[in-house]
Amino acid sequence: MSPEVRRAAEILRAGGLVAFPTETVYGLGADASNAAAMARLYRVKGRPAEHPVIVHFASAEEAFKWAKEVPHAARMLAARFWPGPLTLIVERNDRAKDFVTGGQPSVGIRVPSHPVAQQLLKAFGGGVAAPSANRFGHVSPTTAAHVRGDLGAEVDLVLEGGASEVGIESTIVDLSGGSAVLLRPGRISKAELEQVVEVREKTAASPRHSGGLEKHYAPRTPARLVPTHLLDQEIARLGDKVAVLAFSRPDERVDFWLRMPREPQEYAQRLYAALRELDGSGCELILVEAPPEAPEWAAVRDRLTRACG
Ligand code: TXA
Ligand code: MG
Repeated sequence: MSPEVRRAAEILRAGGLVAFPTETVYGLGADASNAAAMARLYRVKGRPAEHPVIVHFASAEEAFKWAKEVPHAARMLAARFWPGPLTLIVERNDRAKDFVTGGQPSVGIRVPSHPVAQQLLKAFGGGVAAPSANRFGHVSPTTAAHVRGDLGAEVDLVLEGGASEVGIESTIVDLSGGSAVLLRPGRISKAELEQVVEVREKTAASPRHSGGLEKHYAPRTPARLVPTHLLDQEIARLGDKVAVLAFSRPDERVDFWLRMPREPQEYAQRLYAALRELDGSGCELILVEAPPEAPEWAAVRDRLTRACG
């Protein structure tokens, strides 16, 4: 283990904040059992106290210590997808305090696969609460530089781990109500989950989660989804006021144009860095070419819909 990771674990033990890489996005970590550390985490993040955070562990065995009981579906999903980009919501026991769960009777648990996250969680031993390491409502960070730009001096240490491979937040499955409900789509698709358990889409009665708020994961510049067939006419109308995120080649009428991959996993990997770049372009509006309707684009569509309010 690197001296940097050892130091990070010590900072967590002392109640400090450590931003660390995961395969999805960078997380802002705090000791999930320490009330004061958690209060600071919420303050720095700018997150309302009633919003629950995900608790990260080195292994499924550690994670399930926080569950009241472990549903069969949780064991099956963990065996298949952990370590990896999946969060399970389960009924909590008294290890999971109100200051982690936002007062809800459930807790979100996840075992990330990124080697630096794994080392940190092993060195620390317990549960590390970690929302994405951005300010509340903004685009999640996929590099250490993004984290420094957003939270800078307010974090005690930012661990370097390269660009996040998945690029969007974990798939969240709620198992706290008896059946499996998909709360947030991600790299692990509904179809993949269904090879293991039957999964329902969420309804209005599903537990609240901040990713479920309408406008979230959003750049500061207004952004709008535009169907492919209307892109040309929107550019003609708005011209040099816009920046564009699209599948096709750059159009000379537009100064800031980022071309995105036609493959959904590659698109997801690049998405947040691209939104940050366009956000910094000084344009008045970001036009986003709508992705295909196919199921493999569900997670990207979800994030783009939120980014576009
Ligand atoms: O990929 C990820 O999940 C990243 C990395 C750092 O692991 N983390 C992340 O955390 O996206 P955050 O806090 O930005 O989003 C966590 C989502 C929120 O929508 C939160 O409300 C929901 O998980 N959540 C956490 N615990 C929950 C619970 N007990 N019930 C319902 N939703 C919960
Ligand atoms: Mg977040």
